[in-house]
Amino acid sequence: MVDERTTRLELGPMPVPGDGEALVRVRYLSIDPAIRGWMNEVDTYLPAIGIGEVVRAAGLGEVVASNSAAFNVGDTVFGLLGWQDHAIVSAVGPLAAQVVPPGIDPAAALGLLGATGLTAYFGLLDVGRIVPGDNVVVSGAAGATGSVVGQIARIKGASSVVGIAGTADKCSWLVDEAGFDHAINYKTADVDGELRRLLPSGIDLFWDNVGGPILDVCLGQLALRGRVVLCGAISGYNATTPPPGPANYSRLIVQRGRMEGFIVLDFADRFVEAQLQLATWAMEGRIKTTEHIVDGLEHAPDALTLLFTGGNTGKVIVRL
Ligand SMILES: NC(=O)c1ccc[n+]([C@@H]2O[C@H](COP(=O)([O-])OP(=O)(O)OC[C@H]3O[C@@H](n4cnc5c(N)ncnc54)[C@H](OP(=O)(O)O)[C@@H]3O)[C@@H](O)[C@H]2O)c1
Repeated sequence: MVDERTTRLELGPMPVPGDGEALVRVRYLSIDPAIRGWMNEVDTYLPAIGIGEVVRAAGLGEVVASNSAAFNVGDTVFGLLGWQDHAIVSAVGPLAAQVVPPGIDPAAALGLLGATGLTAYFGLLDVGRIVPGDNVVVSGAAGATGSVVGQIARIKGASSVVGIAGTADKCSWLVDEAGFDHAINYKTADVDGELRRLLPSGIDLFWDNVGGPILDVCLGQLALRGRVVLCGAISGYNATTPPPGPANYSRLIVQRGRMEGFIVLDFADRFVEAQLQLATWAMEGRIKTTEHIVDGLEHAPDALTLLFTGGNTGKVIVRL
């Protein structure tokens, strides 16, 4: 687990923007499980964070100086700003910063319209290929991604949407606020038995944020041509030994199932399409979101830990 020994707070000289760059005062940081993955000593779809480097994180900030035609002083920008109070951004390259239109709520920019909402949208529609009548199960359901997945599944005509989460309060929120049909507390209930009772015809689409035993249970109940969307496997992100493989994977054969992983960046060229649709659903009151705000850059490690202890409902954001 990340703790206060993993990172240290340092004072450094104020960075100076070069040609084509801008200096940004960081206001909000998006806290994502991916940050923990980038801290491992292996490169993935992005390079590992090196020892002594600023912790990588997406964020929102205000341009305070600019040598770039793309950014004006006072603009709000979104980019990989990192755990620091000032960052240099540029408008070129695959991870370029972007100006956020005025009037967008910071929590929406980082959550529903940011990586977690976009992940839910593309993962459910393009990877999971949801169709009306699907029985959908979502693990990590009360988190930033899972809560949006379940609500899009409802919009897309799912027959039943069942969320799996770790507290009674989260389960109540899922059913009462987020419109899930059912919620199961995996810490107190028999998940296998409850799913069999709620979905006797099986699971058509399982959205997995968690991995481990919950993945195995859901594989074992996959319906004919069922789909498993591998979004995350948070139960293993702090593991020091590899978790056991899913024993029920052969159900994919019998049921002609499909299990597929993806990274939201795969869909970067279609983000605007998704943002327009997600914003429309939110304005129509069809998607509800909630945030867990932590104040102070010095508390960023605590904020990251919330994701692994389940201390959050919805999107975790650090406000500087
Ligand atoms: N593929 C992609 O491009 C992509 C993009 C974004 C996110 N993700 C993945 O999506 C998942 C959710 O990310 P998020 O940012 O939306 O975080 P989140 O769901 O808001 O927070 C993480 C939640 O995971 C649950 N959890 C933690 N440890 C667990 C365990 N051992 N067993 C079961 N549940 C556990 C906790 O809820 P409980 O109280 O319910 O335990 C916690 O609140 C992560 O796996 C992340 O890596 C993937």
